[in-house]
Amino acid sequence: MDRHDEYALADHLDISQWKRLFKYITPYRKDMIILLAAAVATAFFDALFPLMTQMAIADFIQPRQLKGFGRFVVLFVTLAVMQGVFNVIYSKRAIVIEMGVGRDMRYDLFSHVQTLSLDYFNRTPVGFILARIMSDTNSMGAIFSWRLSDFVFNLAYILFASFNMLRLNRLLACMVLATVPPIALLAGYFRRRLLKAGRAVRRQNSLVTASYNENINGAVTIKELDCAGRINRQFEDINREMKRKSLAAKRLETVFFPCIMVISSAALATVLGMGPAMVAGGSLDVASLAVFISYTFTLIDPVEHLIRGLTQVLALQANVERVNRLIDTRPTVADSRQVEEIYGDVYRPKKENWEPIKGDIKFCDVSFKYPDSEKYVLEHFNLEIPAGTCVAIVGATGAGKSTLVNLVCRFFEPTEGKILIDGVDYRSRSYLWLESNLSYVLQTPHLFSGTIADNIRYANPSASMEQVIRAAKQAQAHDFIQKLPDGYDTPVGQGGDRLSTGQKQLVSIARAILADGRIMVMDEATSSVDTKTEQLINSMTDNLLKNRTSFIIAHRLSTVKNADVIIVVDEGKIVEMGTHAQLLRLHGQYYRMYTGQWEEDRQKDYFDTLKAKA
Ligand SMILES: Nc1ncnc2c1ncn2[C@@H]1O[C@H](COP(=O)(O)OP(=O)(O)OP(=O)(O)O)[C@@H](O)[C@H]1O
Ligand SMILES: [Mg+2]
Repeated sequence: MDRHDEYALADHLDISQWKRLFKYITPYRKDMIILLAAAVATAFFDALFPLMTQMAIADFIQPRQLKGFGRFVVLFVTLAVMQGVFNVIYSKRAIVIEMGVGRDMRYDLFSHVQTLSLDYFNRTPVGFILARIMSDTNSMGAIFSWRLSDFVFNLAYILFASFNMLRLNRLLACMVLATVPPIALLAGYFRRRLLKAGRAVRRQNSLVTASYNENINGAVTIKELDCAGRINRQFEDINREMKRKSLAAKRLETVFFPCIMVISSAALATVLGMGPAMVAGGSLDVASLAVFISYTFTLIDPVEHLIRGLTQVLALQANVERVNRLIDTRPTVADSRQVEEIYGDVYRPKKENWEPIKGDIKFCDVSFKYPDSEKYVLEHFNLEIPAGTCVAIVGATGAGKSTLVNLVCRFFEPTEGKILIDGVDYRSRSYLWLESNLSYVLQTPHLFSGTIADNIRYANPSASMEQVIRAAKQAQAHDFIQKLPDGYDTPVGQGGDRLSTGQKQLVSIARAILADGRIMVMDEATSSVDTKTEQLINSMTDNLLKNRTSFIIAHRLSTVKNADVIIVVDEGKIVEMGTHAQLLRLHGQYYRMYTGQWEEDRQKDYFDTLKAKA
């Protein structure tokens, strides 16, 4: 089974996996007892109604008299009211448990996911995590409330009905009850097949949606590449398969219910065939025959529902396993117990023990490969950066630049070797300590839904509006923010969707400036910003980076000219290192990159001026 296949089915029930989730019911123990008791009571009253028919026939219809009819009516109404009352109790408790269990699980999973390291998100599709947190928790909530109580209700109904029938006539009761196993078997068979067919439809449906999504998002590219015909054919194939699978599932359904009906009709035929003979023979009275007819009608539903409930549990087996697997996942970048004792954890950071940071960074023989990957990105990498140095990292795409800063930020830890901060392995200090001293702008800027001001304030929630604006001005974000309809209070949309990539980068830079870390990382922070704004940012940040250890990664080499040291990385190794002037004198890779780039920039500037004149 694919680890992340949403539609895979477990083929057996493993109670031990479910047991682990029982702890979510414990807080609702009292509600659970009330719920199950109410389910039994509702079943009891439900099963009494055929007996009321019996009473009506025996006491009033057959003797053609109405003596005691008033009492009968009162009894009937009482029964109906009791049934209603228990139904309300039942539903109320079920909702309390459903919502409570769902919320508790969602909260636990969410906080657990927050503790996981980046490599988990690297390996796991976002959709997988979302499905666990959102839909699985809902399903579990429903299973532990409605499904469980339905199960108890149906079982109790079958037992009460059987008891009443056996009391009236053992032979006929056995004949009616003999139809229960075939119905159960048939329902079991069909339910399992329906489950599989349903999953196949959903899997195909998600292919259709994904294809739809991709082709609409890629509409511009499709038009450019002129491949609409081919795309349409592909879509048609997926769609045809969808139709085929849906039909197969529907066909199963159309056979399933008639089959069940046939068995149930056979039971009714037995009752109708044997009943009159028994009545004639004196071993059964007409009123009791009516009870049998009524039970025969109402018995299929609970049996079918019981089986359906069991299949639903089976259907969720794979989800339960996935939830447990998520709960079992431990962060790979985590503080050891000793470190936590000194520095505290997320919930109780012991800030009094956090040493002030200077910002010396040293890579000691660091080798690194991404989890789940075989290839080493860095091998025996050594580099010493004194505090306050501005380091620029340049190199080709995929050279390992982001990896280097990911390691500095401890988003990932070295596979071998160590990284020292102020002379101490950073793993012997807490993750939070390092994080509180970091400011970073990642290669793909991420904003949270909320306003621009919220986003800038993210690293420093107590910052005043003046501080926010000052940071935005330094990041050259102030101008564009002011032009927005609500200025700093403009919502950025989910993930910052309403801003351009360049604007998102500017907001991220402002956020990093406000975070005021001793170590600053800018990974392609201005890659989508126009050259003029970039130059302005550079002139501001020069000042800002003073006294901080900073890492600047940029493809446009004009941005890195002023760095204290430039390292040229190629395939995870440093091939050149020095100041801009030193590297140019080398006439090596940097020189070639710079001159090539320089030509391009000059041409671009030339066109920009032409455009400006026009
Ligand atoms: N999350 C990841 N999981 C597995 N491998 C990765 C991951 N990120 C990067 N790599 C691999 O590590 C190598 C270095 O990637 P890195 O992102 O450090 O390059 P880069 O120099 O920052 O490139 P770019 O200029 O495109 O940003 C690449 O070969 C890439 O395939
Ligand atoms: Mg990169």
